[in-house]
Amino acid sequence: MPEIRLDRFLSEAGMASRRALKDIIRSGRVTVDGCAETRPETKLDPERSAVCLDGKRVAYAQFRYFMLDKPVGVLTATRDGRQKTVLDLLPPALKRLGLFPVGRLDKDTSGLLLLTNDGDFAHRVISPKFCVEKLYYAKVDGALSAEDAAAFKQGLILRDGARCLPAALEILGEGACLVKVREGKYHQVRRMLASRGAPVLELRRLSVGGLVLDENLGPGGLRELFPGDLCRVFNAK
Ligand code: URA
Repeated sequence: MPEIRLDRFLSEAGMASRRALKDIIRSGRVTVDGCAETRPETKLDPERSAVCLDGKRVAYAQFRYFMLDKPVGVLTATRDGRQKTVLDLLPPALKRLGLFPVGRLDKDTSGLLLLTNDGDFAHRVISPKFCVEKLYYAKVDGALSAEDAAAFKQGLILRDGARCLPAALEILGEGACLVKVREGKYHQVRRMLASRGAPVLELRRLSVGGLVLDENLGPGGLRELFPGDLCRVFNAK
């Protein structure tokens, strides 16, 4: 692996800001392979060097992945001059990692939103080519029928003429359904249901591929994801 600076290693591990880390390193709190290292610019191989801060080993991860239970009323964006974004929900240490949302949930949609700083991973989750299905629970104003489910299966044509890939509609009872899609057009699920005369009242994303939202998180709750979770995204069962 290419060498990186010691201060960058520690900031990518979420220890502190790059600026604060320069002081921390100069103050002698950091060791590399057992020796005190006071130069922030020292280069090291992140996979081979043992870096400790205050005697504790710092694990390096180039890319980080998180599951957020996005609350209603928050924008899926990295920043906005006026409105609260999903990045505003992160604790300061995680704000430094360069995370961004994987795809988009509308301001009024809640549920599973992935955050990462791994662009390649994000592309694979979003692109219809990789067939990662997203499951939504919707409350609707209107009655849905087996005919609607058949139309979803066939590939709906929306009111503006846009054609959707085949999707699944499961009717749960009056006014509630599950929708599974593998693409992410603008307001897709809302527009699909509206096109069948059942406008959405409430929308929540429950899963991405085989990765299911942890309902214990609660609105705004966050959990880091590890390799087993990431495999689930691409292996739905
Ligand atoms: N489809 C929508 O209409 N909205 C979302 O937030 C996600 C999917």
